[in-house]
Amino acid sequence: MDHKRNKPGKHAVSACLISYLHPHSASAEQYKAIRNNIRYASRGKTVNSVVVTSPSSGEGKTTAAVNLAVCMAQQGERVLLVDTNIRKPVLQHVFNLETAAGLTNVLAGQVDPEQAIHHTEIDKLDLLPSGPLMYQSIEQLDSKRMALVLEYAKGHYDKVIFDSAPVLGHHDTNALAARCDGVILLFTSGKTRQDRALEAKRSLEFAGATIIGAVLNRS
Ligand SMILES: Nc1ncnc2c1ncn2[C@@H]1O[C@H](COP(=O)(O)OP(=O)(O)O)[C@@H](O)[C@H]1O
Ligand SMILES: [Mg+2]
Repeated sequence: MDHKRNKPGKHAVSACLISYLHPHSASAEQYKAIRNNIRYASRGKTVNSVVVTSPSSGEGKTTAAVNLAVCMAQQGERVLLVDTNIRKPVLQHVFNLETAAGLTNVLAGQVDPEQAIHHTEIDKLDLLPSGPLMYQSIEQLDSKRMALVLEYAKGHYDKVIFDSAPVLGHHDTNALAARCDGVILLFTSGKTRQDRALEAKRSLEFAGATIIGAVLNRS
């Protein structure tokens, strides 16, 4: 593991880290409710790995993934947050990492998972940033090496949260979702069209993913 501690960055002073900066705010309470609902929704099945996704971009995936991860860590769970939105990664900015090896370097066989994982300022919350986009990075999200990364994460953390690419038009999100215990599907109220919401749901289910919750964001 990389033992640097990284402070939240400029991007962080937004909705992204509200659960950390304002743990008693109304928004933070809503993320705690989602965290608790994950437990109830799983009906006795353990849900250790959760993919946060939405039909399209800009619907609040990153915000929800970070806040959920923070709320889980606040309850004392060891949490790993993984940036699997490799085309447009942002978590390295949220947590102010300057140069960071990340998931793509692990998938390319350049480093081991522990060398790409960074502690954050938040107790019990570690981050596996995306790393640079390289030849085949996207394809490697559905590879044996990715399975090994998942195994590593499940073995070392109580919860693994994936900030993913949107579902529609991104086969890698479906593949990842199918390998995890559950998916949280976000919709932006007023923005997500019903047909796109249904298409995203069907696409995830067709891939074999388990949708454990739907969140109407910004309602
Ligand atoms: N519940 C919310 N309330 C207010 N603003 C939000 C909320 N969720 C997300 N946002 C804002 O919407 C924008 C897109 O959110 P983001 O989490 O980056 O979406 P995505 O990861 O799906 O592209 C950001 O500026 C974020 O701060
Ligand atoms: Mg995002």
